[in-house]
Amino acid sequence: MNNKGVFIVIEGLDGSGKTTQARLLAKKLSKKYNIFLTTEPSRGKIGSYIREYYLYEKQRLPTDVEALLFAADRLEHVKKEVVPALDEGKLVICDRYLHSSLAYQGSSGLSIDWIRGINSKALQPDIGIFIDLAPEVVLKRLNRKKSVMETLETQQKVREIYLKFVENGELVRIDGDKPKEDVATNLYSKVTEMIEPLRDSI
Ligand code: TYD
Repeated sequence: MNNKGVFIVIEGLDGSGKTTQARLLAKKLSKKYNIFLTTEPSRGKIGSYIREYYLYEKQRLPTDVEALLFAADRLEHVKKEVVPALDEGKLVICDRYLHSSLAYQGSSGLSIDWIRGINSKALQPDIGIFIDLAPEVVLKRLNRKKSVMETLETQQKVREIYLKFVENGELVRIDGDKPKEDVATNLYSKVTEMIEPLRDSI
């Protein structure tokens, strides 16, 4: 870690509860730490473009264009918001980050190395969490209009890639198939266990 704060990212399939869990985690951790809770796609101009004009179109963009848009949004978000918050010593909790690009854009056949390459200027997270839930369960939960990403086939492939990052140690798996409060308790204890050695090393 080369800054004063700690950078925590929460990943998961659409409908896995990761946004709720990121909020609950922020609330619990705010008793001990200064928190900056944020999200990707970001609330900046590129992130807003992705959310408002792209995700609910009928067709996906070419996957490499999609990956470049997410990478551009990420770099702007890191420079404008994440790094300044870390420099103030905050714990930054980000709802989706680099592994969303690796898993989602990777699921369409794009090379993981190429995606890593276009994201190489974006900071590596200190702690990466994957809230795991079966694709069949998450798609049933989403009773709103589904985005271009939310087909069973895409979600299955996305989960497989996420699980590879659990295997290689880049992400830590939390079982999302439990009552919300239990997931939150497990997430909080895992993250606090991982934060302490990082804070000690500052
Ligand atoms: P999501 O967190 O579901 O946004 P919201 O809270 O608005 O529902 O993210 C939107 C979608 O964008 C989701 O399907 C995953 C996708 N996505 C990528 O494909 N690549 C990325 O790098 C990121 C950050 C998101």
